Amino acid sequence: MWKKVLVGAAGIAATLRHPCHLIETRHSSTSISSAVNSMLLRSLKEHYLEIAKMTFPPKVDPPSPFTIVKGALDSNSPVLKRMYGDEEISIYVMRLANIVPGGGDDDDNNGIDQLFLHVDVSKPGQKDSLNFLCGLYEDAIGIHSVSMRTKFETSGYLVTPSQYNGPVFEDLDERMRDAFHNYIDERGVNESLFKFLQAWLYVKDHRHLMRWFKTVGVFVDGKKPAKDA
Ligand SMILES: *[C@@H]1O[C@H](CO)[C@@H](O)[C@H](O)[C@H]1NC(C)=O
Repeated sequence: MWKKVLVGAAGIAATLRHPCHLIETRHSSTSISSAVNSMLLRSLKEHYLEIAKMTFPPKVDPPSPFTIVKGALDSNSPVLKRMYGDEEISIYVMRLANIVPGGGDDDDNNGIDQLFLHVDVSKPGQKDSLNFLCGLYEDAIGIHSVSMRTKFETSGYLVTPSQYNGPVFEDLDERMRDAFHNYIDERGVNESLFKFLQAWLYVKDHRHLMRWFKTVGVFVDGKKPAKDA
């Protein structure tokens, strides 16, 4: 149900790009521009209120023993963490469509059913961590790459171009690929994460969209931003 809502939200954002009102600004004066401003402000406010009324999907708990990282909705920190022995497993997530414009599947889903997962495995006393980039679907998980990263340099999903990102995973021997799959599976990284992460991203997208309407409005209006903006 909320898939549709999300697409709707993106659609609302897209209508704001329609340039029909901009023609008048060509031969503009201050008074026209303030009319344009108030039209934009009204539109932003309407959509803000509309989005604010959206209902959320039922709350999904993360698969145990993963726990949600506090503040992850508002930062680039990992979403989930767990310990595995003395290893720390951190999970970052993004929609594929947000990384590769038009990425994911090419039907009208816009890649909503495919998530991009970054799994970071770190050990005490080791300066590098083991990183997996994975595609996550409702019923499957696939590894794109395996690489070593300097701890704390891992900024979520960003792949540093200067760093070696590991061999092309598909080119590895099948037994090695299976062994890597078992390695992350043993650490609880599998398709069971999908439901939670999908719901979590929905909340995050909703929050970003609300904030976007608000901060753009505050900027155009020229007033001081509210504390929570
Ligand atoms: C995923 O991993 C968890 C924890 O190891 C396990 O309980 C669950 O059954 C796994 N799910 C699938 C679909 O393999």
